[in-house]
Amino acid sequence: MTIHPELVEKVHVEAAKYPSLKGKGVLITGGGSGIGASLVEHFCAQGCRVGFIELNANVADETAEAIGKKTGNKPFYRAVDLRDIDALKAGIAALRSEIGPIRILVNNAGNDDRRPIEEVTPEYWDERFQTNLRHQFFAVQAVVPEMAEAGGGAIINMGSISWMRGAAGLIFYTTAKSAVMGMTKSLARELGERNIRVNSIAPGWVLTERQVERAKRIYQGKFSEYLEVQCLKEHLLPPDIARMALFLAADDSRLITAQTFIVDGGVV
Ligand SMILES: NC(=O)c1ccc[n+]([C@@H]2O[C@H](COP(=O)([O-])OP(=O)(O)OC[C@H]3O[C@@H](n4cnc5c(N)ncnc54)[C@H](O)[C@@H]3O)[C@@H](O)[C@H]2O)c1
Repeated sequence: MTIHPELVEKVHVEAAKYPSLKGKGVLITGGGSGIGASLVEHFCAQGCRVGFIELNANVADETAEAIGKKTGNKPFYRAVDLRDIDALKAGIAALRSEIGPIRILVNNAGNDDRRPIEEVTPEYWDERFQTNLRHQFFAVQAVVPEMAEAGGGAIINMGSISWMRGAAGLIFYTTAKSAVMGMTKSLARELGERNIRVNSIAPGWVLTERQVERAKRIYQGKFSEYLEVQCLKEHLLPPDIARMALFLAADDSRLITAQTFIVDGGVV
């Protein structure tokens, strides 16, 4: 994973160890790069059996290799376009045969490309919802039986603070991401009796490779301007999100469900 040393601060804090995570089957979507790759790395470092879904096979392969070398616990992956629900379900089934029963699901994949209102077609709208929302529900549907059979599980859906701030230029994304919060609450209610916890993380601006490249290309000033709106004057990095996910996946958060956790450095 390339972190851009001239722009990003290092995360100096050593990650916590969660004994309850050891050996658990973890499924992460969009695990090839960005926050997803950091999630994969953090769960591998906990001794979990990790499988991830990724669109880009080359990226997935490189990430799996690098994380295997770094943690000594190589993750499994399937190259799948999760806009195709049958392919997603087949990918999950294939990973299950490698990692065992899935006890933790992190619905991370998404894409925040921009397009002005005038250029949004019904097809594009539907495609954006397939990329940013629909797969989260169907991944949950695929793993609920094995979580219930095992006595419980933890699901974490990736949201965003963008809709809370009324971000412009990506209304299809903000609309889908606002729905993640509602879906999380209803899933938590419906699955609570099976001891399956469902929470959401709403990140602020996280300096992933893609975000850094885009900001450099389009508007350099974003780096300093964003720190002005954050209470804490340091850019978020993927591990800042992954570490919240570890806590929400571990038994340490055993009675926490139906919540959305904002991790944004205090955007006010
Ligand atoms: N980076 C941020 O500032 C930020 C802020 C708020 C929310 N988020 C959310 O966090 C999550 C991860 O974002 P990120 O910034 O790491 O994104 P990213 O683009 O860096 O990584 C997303 C990964 O998901 C994969 N992916 C995308 N579409 C896919 C598909 N159809 N099938 C399979 N894989 C697919 C991509 O190939 C990529 O590896 C997303 O849900 C995003 O909306 C990110």
